[in-house]
Amino acid sequence: MTVNVGVIGAGMIGADHIRRLSTVVTGARVTAVTDIDADRAAVVAAGAGARALDTGQEVIGAADVDAVLVTSWGPAHAESVLGAIAAGKPVFCEKPLATTAEDCLRIIDAETAHGRRLVQVGFMRRYDAGYRAMKEVIDSGEIGDPLMVHCVHRNPAVPERYHSEMATHDTAVHEIDTVRWLLDDEIVSAQVLTPRRTRHRFEHLQDPQIMLFETAGGARVDVEVFVNCQYGYDIQCEAVGETGTVRLPDPSGPVVRTAGRQGSAVLQDWKDRFAAAYDVEIQEWVDAVAADTAAGPSSWDGYAAAVICDANVEALHTGRIVATGLKDRPDFYA
Ligand code: NAI
Repeated sequence: MTVNVGVIGAGMIGADHIRRLSTVVTGARVTAVTDIDADRAAVVAAGAGARALDTGQEVIGAADVDAVLVTSWGPAHAESVLGAIAAGKPVFCEKPLATTAEDCLRIIDAETAHGRRLVQVGFMRRYDAGYRAMKEVIDSGEIGDPLMVHCVHRNPAVPERYHSEMATHDTAVHEIDTVRWLLDDEIVSAQVLTPRRTRHRFEHLQDPQIMLFETAGGARVDVEVFVNCQYGYDIQCEAVGETGTVRLPDPSGPVVRTAGRQGSAVLQDWKDRFAAAYDVEIQEWVDAVAADTAAGPSSWDGYAAAVICDANVEALHTGRIVATGLKDRPDFYA
């Protein structure tokens, strides 16, 4: 079976996923594309041999669309996801699922009323080979119960429009989802420490930030977000258990020795770091749609990320430890 995909939002990641669906992934083709920028939709659709449509609702309702990919701006996600659920069509939604916890709960209510999972959220680190190997070690019990996780998320630099809350919503959100998944545990509180700020930043930005999370099971998680580190895109993660540790492998590259030094390149761009993970993510989504099942990060994971991010931003602004106040996970999402 070939899955016919309709895409809502043909910007940077939308166009990249369309290329992926057209040339990398097997078992899918893009049949319809929309964007509020109609010219952009036309160009991207033509490149994929698809039709450009005027609205998201037209894409969702199209007879030649079996499944929907939502890659528009975050505030527009909820409407498209709810529309796809109402049409009974599987939907892959790039993060965030929605920009408010209330809208995430509306999606959860709609999906639950539909009776089976239709939604997958685009937390792609769960598809990275290194993180998957880490999870296998943790799940095997080889390092005992995990007690602590140390995470680092560094970017070379960010533009002026990046503000302090984006360190949570756009950057640490990936660690938040990954740690919940790695530990199979829920984050119950958040705290943010604000070190001396780097001089390599725009005036309004608190950079770096150290985020401290506690899980329901009592594990402690620290996330260093430093988005103007200058030297490269650097993602690190180490879980410390009762009898050992497991560390995310660095991307491999040739080790060069010259001029009295040895070393390998540090990646500069997140797209290069997680390119393979995006391929696996979209392939597994297509496979699940074709098999009439759903897998991967769910609406519940999208809701949890929204609630934890909100608590973390409150912690940044107040300096306090903030309880996330997550609801209990319904059996539907067990
Ligand atoms: P972008 O700004 O390049 O593209 C967004 C596109 O959506 C634009 O072309 C815009 O015209 C269109 N759009 C906005 N509202 C729309 C609507 N109501 N209907 C149809 N089209 C609409 O942004 P980018 O970087 O592609 O990000 C898109 C989404 O993907 C964001 O939610 C972002 O957080 C997420 N993302 C996720 C990543 C990941 O690592 N999982 C990486 C990059 C982006």
